Amino acid sequence: MTLRWPSESIWEAVAPDLPGFTVEVLQQIDSTNTELMRRVRAGQLDPLLLVAESQTAGRGRLGRDWQSDESSLTFSLGLPLEMADWSGLSLAVGVSVATSLHPDLQLKWPNDVWLQDRKLAGILIETASVGAMRYAVIGVGVNIAAREARGLSTAPASLQELLPGIDAPQTLQRLAAPLVEAVKRFEVLGLAPFLEMFHARDALAGRDVTLSDGTAGQARGVDGSGALLVHTSAGLRKINSAEISVRPRN
Ligand code: BTN
Repeated sequence: MTLRWPSESIWEAVAPDLPGFTVEVLQQIDSTNTELMRRVRAGQLDPLLLVAESQTAGRGRLGRDWQSDESSLTFSLGLPLEMADWSGLSLAVGVSVATSLHPDLQLKWPNDVWLQDRKLAGILIETASVGAMRYAVIGVGVNIAAREARGLSTAPASLQELLPGIDAPQTLQRLAAPLVEAVKRFEVLGLAPFLEMFHARDALAGRDVTLSDGTAGQARGVDGSGALLVHTSAGLRKINSAEISVRPRN
């Protein structure tokens, strides 16, 4: 399939505020995150939006695979960032993605994008230290058209349920420039400007949840650093470990 990607219009919107920014579209790669991490190790530190029409080894959080089909959107934004406190970046990215796509989308801590309790988009953030600075690789995968459950207990949600006919290039056009803006805003102001928007879309708030370490409790939103607050029989627990996952019980 040959797609027409809005590389030029994204570049025009982003480059004035992000010197050295480029957009690159590949037909196939193992993973856009893996490729950007390879390039960082090879010394390529300019900001880059790398889009792949297909990935052969897409990666998700917690060491999981990320399966996508030919209608999916898969891309990574790589850029150097200077900030003391990185906690909460993944929430800010989730807020940006959900806000750019549709008012009905919710966020499942830390940054899964959900439609009616089904996953519509996933985000994987990785960083590399280069001398005194850090380079962030922000990978986003969006399900565009309906697809089978393929080993999952429920079929994933798709953006076309909300926006019939939308395709991957149109989705990228909606996401890219606001994402860069959100990340640059986070670099200066931290999570504070995103918190209210996260709370408005919080899919877990007030619900009974189970953590991957077996703990049960009730989700009570997030704190100022982006940690998930869970009321358990042992009191209020703050979950900030990237290694813990959470799921609603109802
Ligand atoms: C998750 O939900 O676990 C995160 C999924 C992230 C998937 C995207 S697709 C583009 C980028 N490249 C990858 O290999 N992963 C991210």
